[in-house]
Amino acid sequence: MSNLPSGNRDSFSSKFGVIAAAAGSAVGLGNIWRFPLVTTQNGGGAFLLLYIGFILFIGIPVMLSEFTIGRRAQLNVFGSFKKLAPGTPWYLVGFLGILTAFAILAFYSTVAGWTLEYLVQAISGKLLHTQDMEKNFADFSTHPYRPIIWQLVFMLLTAFVVYAGIKKGIEKFTKILMPVLLVLIIFVVIRSISLPGAGEGVKYLFVPDWSAVNFKTVLMALGQAAFSLSIGMGTLVTYGSYIRKDNNLLKTSAQVALADTSIAILSSLMVIPAIFAFSAGTIDQMSPGPGLVFEVLPNVFKSMPGGIIFSIIFFFLLSVAALTSTISVLEVVVAYLKEELKFSRGKATLIGSISISILGVLATMSFGPLADFQIFGYTIFGLLNYASANIMLTFGALLIVVFVGWRMRKIAFMEEISNKGQLVSVMFTIVFFIIRFIAPIAIGIIAVAALFMEGL
Ligand code: PHE
Repeated sequence: MSNLPSGNRDSFSSKFGVIAAAAGSAVGLGNIWRFPLVTTQNGGGAFLLLYIGFILFIGIPVMLSEFTIGRRAQLNVFGSFKKLAPGTPWYLVGFLGILTAFAILAFYSTVAGWTLEYLVQAISGKLLHTQDMEKNFADFSTHPYRPIIWQLVFMLLTAFVVYAGIKKGIEKFTKILMPVLLVLIIFVVIRSISLPGAGEGVKYLFVPDWSAVNFKTVLMALGQAAFSLSIGMGTLVTYGSYIRKDNNLLKTSAQVALADTSIAILSSLMVIPAIFAFSAGTIDQMSPGPGLVFEVLPNVFKSMPGGIIFSIIFFFLLSVAALTSTISVLEVVVAYLKEELKFSRGKATLIGSISISILGVLATMSFGPLADFQIFGYTIFGLLNYASANIMLTFGALLIVVFVGWRMRKIAFMEEISNKGQLVSVMFTIVFFIIRFIAPIAIGIIAVAALFMEGL
């Protein structure tokens, strides 16, 4: 095999470009919106510890497996499985990935649309003059068309970047803006933890309460880890196919996971202490819902000198972080339509984004006109949110490690991760053992126990 990706496929031009793009996919609403939410819904500290354990022992190995598959096959997720395991049903994993992309982007674009509304509210000054942040969020999210318009604007932005192509589109954005986001979050964390009463929130996050944990919370920690790292559906198979042969995949995986986990923990430190400071009660009393960060953070900005500026920059960067994630989800679908069904990039982008938007609008409407429409006790938004991370991604992750551990030739895996022997062999043995045994057994047990013992 040559040193560069074959033929006319696009590739990332630099090492930092790869990390920036993969981190751009990983860092997004999953860290800043979803992580503080599921952490507060699942008891705090113990959930955080489980989460970190899953990132290390399952997340990084699955990420490495995905990069390996993609770089080896040089194709989209569907084509990769077909190429590496010809004549077998393994390509169905690719199919599951594409379905998952639909489910995720549909509800993710709802929340991404909210960030645009909040950006506009921040710029107009309305946001920081609002007295009742909960009412403000409820009024907006239940509105019959405003959130839909923002969602569609967001989908349009996503489609535009995906249409512009990998190198020009994705790399350029992520390189500059993600570090700025990190710095801004640190500022907000400092303000949040210094609010009167915030100490209880810090304790809640760092002192584990194991009585709050059952199989379902364990599954949710695993699902959140998968969601946050963008693993389990082939996003990173697709990105892996654009990574040059000389990139050290294990190092890249560890760096991306570190960046992603740091931002998730910092986001919780930005949100949770502030909940305690402002609500002066327990988390349970406020029963956190999808509006959590949109209700809590504006109050933190209000209490900061220069809060308006902070709020504007924050919601701008949050929208960008969401965009670098949505493009990676749409890219899975577009790469498939383009390479397998031979559509042009333009047509693939158009068809992919329009069909996802249709489901997406229904998800957005589940806060307003469709609030009473429920399946298994979930709204459309709730079901997509729950099932995509905890069922589809975890199942996808399971199949991916089983594929790399048991189906792909060991030598192929070794070649991809060793970079011609640069990686010490003991490291290889450990990682391969995790991929073969630990990760699949752990995911299998958790998924089965949670679904059968606690129910959906
Ligand atoms: N990881 C992204 C986030 O945290 C969401 C995502 C999930 C992106 C799955 C791609 C694939 O916001």
